[in-house]
Amino acid sequence: MNDFTFFSPTRFVFGRGVTDRVGDELASAGYAHALVVYGQGSVVRTGTLGRVLASLDAAGIAHTELAGVRPNPEVGLVREGVTLARECGADLVLGVGGGSVIDTAKAIALGVPYEGDVWDLFVGAASPVAEGKLDVASVLTIPAAGSEASASAVITNDACQLKRGLSSELHRPVIAFMDPELTFTLPPYQTAAGVTDMIAHVMERYFSSVGPVPVTDNIACALVRALMQEAPRALADPEDYDARANVMWAGTLAHNDLAGLGRNASPAGRAGGWESHALEHELSAHDASITHGAGLAVIFPAWLRYVWADRPERILSFGRDVFGIEPVDAEADGVDVTPEEAVRDAAEATIDALQDFFVSMGMPRTLGELGVTAEQIPALLATLEQNKGAEFGDLRRITLDDARAIYESAL
Ligand code: NZQ
Ligand code: ZN
Repeated sequence: MNDFTFFSPTRFVFGRGVTDRVGDELASAGYAHALVVYGQGSVVRTGTLGRVLASLDAAGIAHTELAGVRPNPEVGLVREGVTLARECGADLVLGVGGGSVIDTAKAIALGVPYEGDVWDLFVGAASPVAEGKLDVASVLTIPAAGSEASASAVITNDACQLKRGLSSELHRPVIAFMDPELTFTLPPYQTAAGVTDMIAHVMERYFSSVGPVPVTDNIACALVRALMQEAPRALADPEDYDARANVMWAGTLAHNDLAGLGRNASPAGRAGGWESHALEHELSAHDASITHGAGLAVIFPAWLRYVWADRPERILSFGRDVFGIEPVDAEADGVDVTPEEAVRDAAEATIDALQDFFVSMGMPRTLGELGVTAEQIPALLATLEQNKGAEFGDLRRITLDDARAIYESAL
């Protein structure tokens, strides 16, 4: 088990009706003016925004609104938000939405004290500073990205078709309001994509070169099993509170680093090589209509089929603990397979089971279903190289040729 530093300082306010407590909680934490950031209308239609604003009013917290964050959020609106936050004198950025909204809130919070273009922070041309940055809080409406407790924000710049992550403790949210009833209105596709993203967050950490770390590996597999049990219930009955609540909390635990502790290569680093996320981010950078989780449903199994043999013990323990799949024992089971074939069959059966689960929720199996064609692969590889260099990853180092092969295998 490797050394680690674990810091998860977010205050979670979880349960029925917490949406109406936003103002009181933020007032007791000392905030006076919130820049309220939200997406393309769902929170207006569902009444969530109205409840949040009423709660701020009742607690005497001033507010200014920034609407219109799109899925796979773009830096243009972040720039607008930075200007607005400075003009209105906000001391907090409150995201009311999902990962796209919260990531936009985070980028605004760090952009406020920076005099140059906020995009500089995402390409490493400047580092975020603590002095003058704003705090971030969220009212989560879709469990998926885990941004409500993560130290990262992911923003796209359409001008250069780059989607970049920025990791910083400075924008990790101070408070997350998690009201499972807000997720009753989620369309099935978004519910499924969110669950896929959570499972991917666990698996990116699990399928790395470090380990085994039984305490962490068991947490990881338990999260995946819980999601595979609760997600179908939430899809069958969107107003099943317990299913929605379990899915929501699993989304946080999948990405606040708990599920990777001791598997991290450096004490302050995150476990895993995040290969599938790197490959997916190129899809949604080039076509913002591709939902992150849906891209992962295609990419993760394709990546795993390509690399599992470098660390067969990882796929075997995952198959056993999540799906109850074990390699056959030729002698005991009276079958004619070599030990290598038995391992390969168990690995493939595990990946098939994982992919079938994603598909059973309504996720795509192929890149073609997402509208991605073979002709687009060179453009994906060009921006992948800008983001990740010629080689990246941990379970196996992935070259651009490997990346091409993985994309092609998923067409
Ligand atoms: O824009 P509105 O109208 O609000 O609609 C949203 C959006 O279309 C809708 N929605 C959200 N809550 C709803 C709802 N519809 C009905 N009822 C509700 N209660 O859902 C759609 C998707 O929202 P979005 O915020 O884009 O989803 P998600 O949370 O999956 O976020 C995806 C973004 O997060 C990034 C992804 O790359 C992507 O850009 N990620 C961020 C991470 C982080 N910060 O730690 C890690 C992740 O790996 C991920 O990369
Ligand atoms: Zn993700």
